[in-house]
Amino acid sequence: MKFKNKVVVITGASSGIGEASAIEFAKNGANIVLVGRKKSKLIDVEKKLSKYKISTLCCECDVSQKTQVKELSNQVLDKFGRIDILVNNAGFAIYGPVSDQSIEEIESQMHTNYFGMIYCTKNFLPKMLEQNSGHIINVASVAASFGLPGIAPYCASKFAMLGFSEGLRHELKGTNVKVTIVSPIMVRTNFFDHPSFSSMPKYSPASLSAKTVAKAVLRATNSSRLEIIVPSVVRGAVWAKHTFPFIVNPIIGSAIRKRLSSKTSYSSSSGDGASALEPTSKSSSSFNSN
Ligand SMILES: NC(=O)c1ccc[n+]([C@@H]2O[C@H](COP(=O)([O-])OP(=O)(O)OC[C@H]3O[C@@H](n4cnc5c(N)ncnc54)[C@H](OP(=O)(O)O)[C@@H]3O)[C@@H](O)[C@H]2O)c1
Repeated sequence: MKFKNKVVVITGASSGIGEASAIEFAKNGANIVLVGRKKSKLIDVEKKLSKYKISTLCCECDVSQKTQVKELSNQVLDKFGRIDILVNNAGFAIYGPVSDQSIEEIESQMHTNYFGMIYCTKNFLPKMLEQNSGHIINVASVAASFGLPGIAPYCASKFAMLGFSEGLRHELKGTNVKVTIVSPIMVRTNFFDHPSFSSMPKYSPASLSAKTVAKAVLRATNSSRLEIIVPSVVRGAVWAKHTFPFIVNPIIGSAIRKRLSSKTSYSSSSGDGASALEPTSKSSSSFNSN
């Protein structure tokens, strides 16, 4: 796909993979709609795009709120009259064993990561079908293929995203509307600034830059694949997990479970998992380390 004058809507565009994707699309001449919950952060990204000769729109929107997503689609279609690429990227994780996460924390991850993607898809898909063109890119994770201790609710939201995307893709066969998932391994972004991650080592040496993933997002718009795993070598690990789960799952489970035993716990006062969590001194080790 050529990007010049295309309309690209990116959720979670105020930092990390979303911001880097906005820059890459803008470099290629696309018009960009930046979506996030804080207007000031979106305006900072918009300033970085000002050197490219494109149109931009900043939309303050919490994708977990369906009325706000409806308003977002109205704003986009009023301004541009079309949408060519929807990048469902907004997402977050809370780190900790299921026994320590409140129901509201678990729900909040599903509301943003899964239902946020559903609300955006439902509001923009009719226009794509009317145009008979468009590409939905869902930013999942390798956690869509591995149920990992410490981020089980997050994994569930990404597994759900994968299943929904695969089913929708089948439904859209015969139209010119495509669906592709981009599933990276660990990426160096603000994702790990959530207080629940404070006991974790910051990044693994194999972690990716947001720009690397953004380039994969652009490539995905020209791909006929369901899922693009970044880096592609990790596809082998996903294959091994599905082919030999009885060997691979115990190895992964025991390696990652050990980290949970030293985790600090967090109390939650509302369903907003991204902002309502305060550190507590309670130590948690609901899982045995081996
Ligand atoms: N970093 C990794 O290792 C990694 C690996 C695999 C997959 N991913 C996925 O990549 C995506 C982007 O994450 P990132 O690594 O770039 O993290 P990030 O830097 O924390 O970016 C997350 C973005 O999502 C936005 N956001 C969060 N909740 C939102 C909501 N309810 N409504 C609208 N926007 C919301 C944030 O902006 P505001 O807070 O201002 O709203 C921010 O722009 C996520 O879906 C994540 O699951 C990340």
